[in-house]
Amino acid sequence: MSYYITTPIYYVNAEPHIGHAYTTVVADALARFHRLLGEETRFQTGTDEHGEKVLEAAAAAGLPVKEFVDRISARFRQSWDDLDISYDNYIRTTDPAHVRVVQEILTRVHESGDIYFGEYGGLYCFGCECFYLERDLVDGLCPDHRVAPTYLKEENYFFRMSKYQDWLIDQIRTHPDWIRPERYRNEMLAFLKEPLEDLCISRPKSRMAWGIPLPFDDRYVTYVWFDALINYLSGLGYPGDKAYEKFWPAQHLIAKDILKPHAIYWPTMLRSMGLSPYRRLNVHGYWQMATGKMSKSLGNVVEPQVLVARFGLDQVRYFFLREMVFGLDAHFSEAALTNRINADLANDLGNLLARSLGMAFKYRQGVVPSPGDPAPPDAEVVSAVQAMAANFLRLFPGLEFARALAGLWEFIGHLNRYIVAAAPWELAKQPEAAGRLDTVLYHLLEGLRWIAALLRPVMPRSALKMSEQLGLGLALWDHPLPQVLRWGGLTPGSRLAKGPALFPRIEAADQ
Ligand code: MSP
Repeated sequence: MSYYITTPIYYVNAEPHIGHAYTTVVADALARFHRLLGEETRFQTGTDEHGEKVLEAAAAAGLPVKEFVDRISARFRQSWDDLDISYDNYIRTTDPAHVRVVQEILTRVHESGDIYFGEYGGLYCFGCECFYLERDLVDGLCPDHRVAPTYLKEENYFFRMSKYQDWLIDQIRTHPDWIRPERYRNEMLAFLKEPLEDLCISRPKSRMAWGIPLPFDDRYVTYVWFDALINYLSGLGYPGDKAYEKFWPAQHLIAKDILKPHAIYWPTMLRSMGLSPYRRLNVHGYWQMATGKMSKSLGNVVEPQVLVARFGLDQVRYFFLREMVFGLDAHFSEAALTNRINADLANDLGNLLARSLGMAFKYRQGVVPSPGDPAPPDAEVVSAVQAMAANFLRLFPGLEFARALAGLWEFIGHLNRYIVAAAPWELAKQPEAAGRLDTVLYHLLEGLRWIAALLRPVMPRSALKMSEQLGLGLALWDHPLPQVLRWGGLTPGSRLAKGPALFPRIEAADQ
């Protein structure tokens, strides 16, 4: 089994912000999860460096364009390194290997007759770098940039996208999970009710020269989307590399802003190349700020590093996955983040770990005790954790992170109540209850082992620290997750290790 997950390649016209960070963290959590299942996994992210927007941004920064893209691309890469993003490949569309693949594909598609030369007059949005139809506009304005498009008439090359319309409709209809969640699948099916136009895939150099030259006409460069989408293949070393055989088709992860290029252009391009479609298109919503959509002009851009420096890396990762229902928009605020950290992490999980370890040291010198015969509340712990883990293993790869984590936190609540009901501090006063105390402590520690195992993709560092306190360290993940998740994995007699509190509270004064 292999698994290939990609993020969009981000435009280098602006600095990374938490919107980019969200997608990248989700992809990272998925990659880590699939690695833990024992699947051969590849995770790719990178930067999209051609086109008008980038050229303009370089001019605004007063830098030669290559120097500018090198700088911003490195900034994205640094952000992902700071966020513990475990990408296997970082692709840049200015990489010579990528440029070569785009040109090879253009040559092939051109020779097959799916690219033709023609004249087109239409409404062009410079922000989107694309033509719009009247019907796509909102009050005569570009739906994204809210500016009136310019009428532009020029000779260009076109990709025969219309030819694949029926195939695409059929592909979407017969593969219900191909574009998910369903709302985006429906949106595309509705869009495809109208006739599909061919796609303009070139830009005259005289107007915009920052792109990959067309191999069959050097007066033109490639339209940035035709270049960018191919990263998902060129990053695998397509066509020659074994990685392509092993990892294609991909699971793509995007937000709703770039649904159309991924749901319409890309599958028809692949079809024309004679390749199989991607495995899935996973589409999430937007993080909204109190002041509206995050944008430079509104001055409400939140940089991931700033957030991480203030709140902690795993805290931010947890918040991303717990707070947003995948597919829907969510509101971002520091108050919501603080609340999640204090309630879920410091109170629920942090206290459970600290209390359980504290009691194991106080009553059993930091050694894992041997459990005796389980009483009903102990058996309930076992069945609760098994049910929770089964759900988690189903929900997480299905992108239902919020529900998977909510279920895990219900189990944390269950263990916290189990402590109160079992009252180990009372048992410790009664010599005849020693066996009972052993059993309770074992159930707590073993329950924590399951929690640490499942949290690894979400909070890699904290899960490792938990595992170290349980005396296991990285060895906890030596086997594929389904094998790790068997009751009794913690060995009686093994030593625990004390550690500092995992999730300090965020005090109101910090806010
Ligand atoms: N370069 C293109 C993608 C080409 S992929 C072949 C592009 N780049 S982008 O820099 O604009 O990134 C868009 C992506 O950034 C979104 O699809 C999403 O993954 C992420 N996000 C940007 N803002 C976001 C929010 N406010 N909320 C959630 N995700 C956001 O489009």
